[in-house]
Amino acid sequence: MSVKRIGVLTSGGDAPGMNAAVRAVVRTAIFHGVECYGIRRGYNGLISGDIIKLDEKSVGHIINRGGTILYTARSKEFMTEDGQKKAVATCKFLGLDGIVVIGGDGTFRGANALSKHGINVIAIPATIDNDIGCTNYSIGFDTAANTAIECIDKLRDTMQSHERCSVVEVMGRNAGFLAMYVGLAVGATAVLVPEKPIDFEKDVIEKIRQARFNGFTHYMIVVAEGAGSAADIAAKIKQSIELDPRVTVLGHIQRGGCPNGRDRVNATKMGYLAVELLLQNKTNRVVCTHGGNFTDEDIDTALAMRRDIQNMEVEVLTAMTGI
Ligand code: F6P
Repeated sequence: MSVKRIGVLTSGGDAPGMNAAVRAVVRTAIFHGVECYGIRRGYNGLISGDIIKLDEKSVGHIINRGGTILYTARSKEFMTEDGQKKAVATCKFLGLDGIVVIGGDGTFRGANALSKHGINVIAIPATIDNDIGCTNYSIGFDTAANTAIECIDKLRDTMQSHERCSVVEVMGRNAGFLAMYVGLAVGATAVLVPEKPIDFEKDVIEKIRQARFNGFTHYMIVVAEGAGSAADIAAKIKQSIELDPRVTVLGHIQRGGCPNGRDRVNATKMGYLAVELLLQNKTNRVVCTHGGNFTDEDIDTALAMRRDIQNMEVEVLTAMTGI
């Protein structure tokens, strides 16, 4: 089948670099003489036909912008068979020969459903959680991690001055990749992630005690949101030892801001590859990257794959905290 017209959408939580991926999809399509339409507001836009024609100019000066110019959503309607049928009808009505979807695992499940209804779909991983099993890297992670690191560095100044303990909650949904990376980068006293069972006395109190023995009078505890709330952890610390921790929930600030170089370049390569795959009439594939190489994987297989926190990260953290 010759590909003449494609669509692109962003879905789920936004991630810095989504715009760079949209730009790459549009520019690659046009380079091959293929028309490109932006579908707005994720799968909701596919159901309602909320589309916008995209040309070279319309994606100019967005490579550096955070968020997504296409808006995003988590569509409840698209999770139903009825919603999916409406989306397929829109694709057929518009004559879309394929769609590129940009987002996390929820977005991939949507792509999988579309593909099973006969629509050619290629997915691009974009989530600050970096929890997509088939790829080492998802767009947005590096920028989000660096934003969190910058915030925590600032926090450390005031913590150090007041000789305090801080408990900082980092996003990641059910995954601890962001928290572990950020914790290592800021030199945290302890990092709590959902992937590792938590022994509060050993993993938090003993680490604070060890830091005190090492001569420190301020303590940074980084907790992944999936491992518990910073407020609860601070309360438990207060109960156990003579400290009055301050709580910071970084929240959505981590998802905003200009994508950094790594996210722009990965997004551009992934957007390019996604269109090349559509042109080869491939469907139900997700673009992946491993150690600088870019490949693609079947979405069914990808959804069954899990990533885990590397043992090395835990070992390094243990060595850095001395316990
Ligand atoms: O999946 C990205 C993410 O930012 C998670 O880290 C977080 O748990 C969730 O989205 C927050 O979602 P919302 O923006 O709907 O509050």
